[in-house]
Amino acid sequence: MAATLLSLLTLTIFSSILHSSKALSVNYYQQTCPKAESTITNVVKKGMMNDRTVPAALLRMHFHDCFIRGCDASVLLNSKGSNKAEKDGPPNISLHAFYVIDNAKKEVEKMCPGVVSCADILALAARDAVVLSGGPRWDVPKGRKDGRISRANDTLQLPFPTFNISQLQQSFSQRGLSIEDLVALSGGHTLGFSHCSSFQNRIHNFNNATDVDPSMNPSLAARLRQLCPMHNKVKNAGANLDSSPTVFDNAYYKALLQGKSIFSSDQALLTTSRTKALVSKFAASQEEFYEAFVKSMIKMSSISGGGTEIRRNCGAVN
Ligand code: HEM
Ligand SMILES: *[C@@H]1O[C@H](CO)[C@@H](O)[C@H](O)[C@H]1NC(C)=O
Ligand SMILES: *[C@@H]1O[C@H](CO)[C@@H](O)[C@H](O)[C@H]1NC(C)=O
Ligand SMILES: *[C@@H]1O[C@H](CO)[C@@H](O)[C@H](O)[C@H]1NC(C)=O
Ligand SMILES: *[C@@H]1O[C@H](CO)[C@@H](O)[C@H](O)[C@H]1NC(C)=O
Repeated sequence: MAATLLSLLTLTIFSSILHSSKALSVNYYQQTCPKAESTITNVVKKGMMNDRTVPAALLRMHFHDCFIRGCDASVLLNSKGSNKAEKDGPPNISLHAFYVIDNAKKEVEKMCPGVVSCADILALAARDAVVLSGGPRWDVPKGRKDGRISRANDTLQLPFPTFNISQLQQSFSQRGLSIEDLVALSGGHTLGFSHCSSFQNRIHNFNNATDVDPSMNPSLAARLRQLCPMHNKVKNAGANLDSSPTVFDNAYYKALLQGKSIFSSDQALLTTSRTKALVSKFAASQEEFYEAFVKSMIKMSSISGGGTEIRRNCGAVN
């Protein structure tokens, strides 16, 4: 009896330690690396000055990281030997700007070696990407650990741009994210660009009755068909995700209401009354969008991973 009680107590203490070691906090590096955040921000700024597509890339990279194995920087690992990493998985087409994270890591390691995880650097860089594009700022909870596993095949668990609303909802709820989170985080598509392959289902052979998705605005459809002909030969052809692809605003939702979104998964947000009401709310008020986006980003970037270490180099396990 006493032994059972004791082991129960031990178990409780042990699991609370485990739990608290996983809880993230805003002041995590205050003692150990107080300049980490400003250093990362400066590196992101520099990257962005050379290449305006850097913020979109960092935001999408963080989303991919968190959706596969939790936010554990698995997206940053390079393939090694016979192991193909997430980076080299099928939906990697728009992932780029890994060098920005590597540069930030180098700077931070110089100040406080072995302290700041790559997963935290990516979460902070994604926040900076939003701020530097004119979007809202928030405090990022930190304390993530870096994982040791990255498999190309796992990326098949990311939501596809052809998903309908029930598939999207399922993909998000499997990660503890709600319908509100789905609609708010889809607002990430206010930044960036898509290759033709990600929306070709909507503009060629949509179904056996029509080539073009009837829910798409006809002039947008015509423009996309011009940019992306059926047998497109132009490498990196594609379209911006909204009319202001380097500005973090609510133009994505306004366009969406006019049938001017790029992916089926965007258009799908109009197919239930609940999600459509949220789209309308965010189209009408940028402040409400910002508030919801921040809340949902903090949730997404807290999806816990099985990380165990602070990588020395973000592309390789220690
Ligand atoms: C709801 C499910 C989602 C789907 C199906 C989806 C799908 C896609 C696809 C297919 C692309 C274009 C890839 C290409 O062809 O180049 C893309 C781009 C992008 N996505 Fe998403 N996405 C989703 C959610 C998110 C979330 C939650 C975020 C961040 C909060 C995000 C941020 C971005 C950004 C910033 C880009 C542009 C990347 C660039 O220009 O480099 N997406 N997304
Ligand atoms: C995407 O994967 C392909 C091979 O599957 C690889 O050649 C390419 O370099 C990868 N892209 C990035 C950005 O890692
Ligand atoms: C890759 O993932 C798919 C779907 O998630 C699964 O059916 C397949 O068996 C996996 N392949 C490998 C080699 O793990
Ligand atoms: C979404 O697609 C899945 C798989 O094709 C299908 O089973 C489901 O009925 C669809 N849901 C809606 C709302 O269209
Ligand atoms: C083609 O579309 C018609 C109606 O639009 C439908 O009845 C028919 O089953 C479809 N055929 C195939 C092969 O999908």
